[in-house]
Parts: sequence; structure tokens; C-alpha cells
Amino acid sequence: MRVLFVTPECFPLVKTGGLADVSAALPAALSRLGVDVRLLLPGYPAVLDGLANLHEVGDLITDLPGTDRARLVIGAMPDGTLAYALDAPALFGRPGNPYLGPDGKDWPDNAERFAALSWAAAGFAAAEPYDPWWRPDVLHGHDWQAGLMPAYLAMRPDRFAGPFRPGTVMTIHNIAYQGQFAPWMLGAIGLPTAAYAQNGVEYYGGIGYLKAGCFYADRLTTVSPTYAHEIQTDEQGMGLEGLLASRVDDLTGILNGVDYGIWDPAADPHIPERYGPADPGRRGGKAACKTELQIAFGLERRADAPLAAVVSRLNHHKGLDLVLETAGQWVALGGQLVVLGSGDTWFERGYRYLAEWFPGRVGVRIGYDEALSHRIQAGADLLLVPSRSEPCGLTQLYALKYGTLPLVRRTGGLADTVIDATPASVADGVATGFQFVRCEAQELLFTLRRALALYRRPERWRTLQERAMTRDFGWDGPAREYSELYNTIAFDRHRRAA
Ligand code: ADP
Ligand code: GLC
Repeated sequence: MRVLFVTPECFPLVKTGGLADVSAALPAALSRLGVDVRLLLPGYPAVLDGLANLHEVGDLITDLPGTDRARLVIGAMPDGTLAYALDAPALFGRPGNPYLGPDGKDWPDNAERFAALSWAAAGFAAAEPYDPWWRPDVLHGHDWQAGLMPAYLAMRPDRFAGPFRPGTVMTIHNIAYQGQFAPWMLGAIGLPTAAYAQNGVEYYGGIGYLKAGCFYADRLTTVSPTYAHEIQTDEQGMGLEGLLASRVDDLTGILNGVDYGIWDPAADPHIPERYGPADPGRRGGKAACKTELQIAFGLERRADAPLAAVVSRLNHHKGLDLVLETAGQWVALGGQLVVLGSGDTWFERGYRYLAEWFPGRVGVRIGYDEALSHRIQAGADLLLVPSRSEPCGLTQLYALKYGTLPLVRRTGGLADTVIDATPASVADGVATGFQFVRCEAQELLFTLRRALALYRRPERWRTLQERAMTRDFGWDGPAREYSELYNTIAFDRHRRAA
């Protein structure tokens, strides 16, 4: 089984969020199952510099949307996975954030940039394919940036119909990001007028890239079972609920996993002292990590002060206004807070202000810092994830492994991965964290108080930590589900072709 994994970001070369972690870990897990998977990435400078043994594949590509000069190159990711990069300097030869310019706004040519990525993916299926030596059975696209790929296969048979048509699957990592562009871009991105229809790429008067993927792909997945239901509802479907509900038989929720080669406190090179489930308590390695974190953020060095943390993009969708609202009361209860994040200016300002207001109790770092995110996971007692919606969420999974109990809103993947500490679940020894339902500051505060009550009973807290640290969210199970899905897709294709 050959799979082309088409994604706009991949750790450690380019990362803005969880998709990068998934794009690194899932292909590796699939390879362990014997799936021959290769990545296709935009040729950002960080990608071209980061791939080893880079060499060219095929001829100059002259018909991409947005540029007449591009090449496909192939090299190895740091873990050895093979990755194609679309080396199109006019589109991707820009440093920094992959989607935003230095002014913090979307690059004005994002429509062409990611149409080109999808076009390149479809090119693997053409009669004269970009790589004649490697023909994928399945094209697996991720998020709106890869959404046009199945649309090209369906609507441009003149360009992309080769003798073997691969199957297609689209994974929705976050339905809030849809890639919507003006209708007059249709010609520029190489789609015929017939594609601009409700049964096509048309989406509320524009062109919807994610919509296109959801309409044309053979199969759809998203990153948790609960989110798979939520996106079929008016509240969370962001306008795609009708289409997704009509495709319910083709839609699966497969929970993301964790790469424990990177996220494991027993082997983490970023943290000051290593520890495992046997010594997470308040004296072992985790305690040393907490002290170091308090020092790093200028907090009072108090082992008994419950330390809550946020590692997140800072925006409304992540519910981080609730943390701003309750921080004062948390501090009054004796709590401490550290925040690492970047995002909306309003939030960045709010958190900076909070740190100034509560010196020694609240520490804030605005920015993106991979190593620090590990140290926070190791040093904190609680990780706050109050998201309004959360397709899967990875930070709560990392927190579990580090014995940092997640306190989350019950939505999407957060609902599927954290077991709320109720009297019954604590007594049964299955609780791993805390959940609240209504997206309100009072409810977050109430849940923080619940957590505090347990924190004051160290033996019980420790039982939760041990349970959390020993739960297995590795990639083997999810990779098996993807592999079975690929088999089904390829089988269906062959049957239809026969
Ligand atoms: P999302 O993809 O919606 O941002 P996830 O929880 O799936 O949410 O993934 C977020 C990823 O980004 C995690 O790996 C998390 O550790 C990382 N992350 C988020 N913000 C920062 C930051 N400011 N510095 C370092 N890592 C961050
Ligand atoms: C998106 C979602 C997040 C998910 C990640 C990886 O960024 O917001 O919940 O964990 O993708 O699938």
C-alpha cells in the first residue's frame, strides 16, 4: 500500500500547531505497519533546508496555479521518512509563518499557493505522473490546504486521469479553518466553471477548499469520535454540517496519538530531571521540574502551591478568555499560573497584563518555544484546556503522560481522552483529570476548586497521576485504523474500476 500524505506542515521542520505533530508521527507509525508512506510538503525554506539528501524528481512543472516554474524534489525527514517538497520559489520561498505574512495577515496569494500543493498531489495520478517510479494507491490530504486535490482528480480528468486512479481521503483537523476564496479565482486555480456549483467547490458564494475536499474525497476522517459527531451539528459544523451529515457513512473519527519518543518524561532531553510513573510525587523528578519552572517564570518557589499551566495558541476558540477571567480568583486560592502562547493581539496583551498584575504568582511567555513547552508539561500540576471546540487536542495527551492533570472543557477530543474526577471515578481509580461543560468562567472556577480539593489530598492526587501517566495514547492503534481505511479505499477503487 502506497500513500501520499499531503500536508502543509510537519514537525520538526515547520509547525504552527498539532497538525505538524500528527504529520510527523502518523506516517512513522504507518511505516512500522508496513505502509509505504511519503509526505508531500510545500517547499518552504525550512523544508528545503531540513530535508536530507535532496534531489530532483521529474521535469520542470510549468502549469501550476500561481507559477510556471516549480520542481518536485525528494529528501528524507530527520526520522528517515521520505518527503517530496514542492519547490516553487514564487509561492513558498518565504521564511516565517507558512500561512501569514510579516503583518500577521494571510498571504494574499494563499489561494494559489495551496491550490498548487493540491495540484502537485493530483499530479501523482496523471498519465505522465510527476514521479513515474512511485505511484500512490491513496492520496491522503490534510485540512483545507489540501482540499482541492480530490476536486482536481474529479474535475480535471483531461489533466489528471492516469491509468490508475488513486483513492482519496481527507482529514479535517479543524473545521473552523476552511480556506475560502473569491469565486473569480476559479480560472486561476485551474478549475472549470462546472466545478462552481453546490455539488462542487461553491461555498456560500465563494470557493471553499475544505468544502471541496469534503465533497470530492472518497472518504473523510476527523481526529476524534466526538468531533465527528459535533461537526454534523449546526453549532459546530461551521456551515459544512449538512454535507457532512449526508456523508455520515464515509466519515470516521480516529483519535490522534502521541509520539512517546518525543513526549516522555522518562527520556525527555528538554526537562531538568527525568521521572516516570513510579516517582511523579511531590519529592521526585517532577518536583524538581516544578521548582525549575517556578524559577524560570519568576514565581514564588513553593512546592505546595498548585501550579496551573496553559500551552496554546491564544484565541477565543481555545476558551482562553475564561482563564483570563478566573486567574485572579485562582491566585486568591493560593494557585500559580504559567502561560506559554501566541496568537490574537488582544489575548497576548491580556496575558501580559495579568503577569504584571500578579508578580510571583502568574508568569507569561508570549511566543513559540518548543523546549519550554516540554518544561511546562513536566513542571506544572494542572494543564488548562478550556476550548470552546477542540477537534482532538494534543497538549492534554502530553500532560497525561507527564502526570500533569488536564482540566478541560468537555468537547471533541478533550471529552474522549480525559476522565473526569467524580467521587465514583476517583473511588474506581479511573479518573485522570477534570472536565467542565458550560463555557463560562464560573464553571471553570468551580472546576479549579474541585481540582484544588483533590490536590490538597496528595495520596489521591498521586493515584490520578499514576493512572494518567500509564494510559496509552500511542499511535499504534490509530495507525492501524488508518491502514484499514486505506485498504478499504483502495479495494473500493479497484472494484469500481473492474
Ligand atoms: P492546535 O493544533 O489546535 O493548536 P493541539 O493541542 O492539537 O492544538 O496542538 C498544539 C501543539 O502546538 C502542541 O504540540 C503544543 O505543545 C504546541 N504549542 C502550542 N502553542 C505553543 C507555544 N507557544 N510554544 C510551543 N509549543 C506550542
Ligand atoms: C487541529 C486541532 C487540534 C488537533 C490538531 C491535530 O489543529 O485544533 O484539536 O489536535 O489539529 O489533529
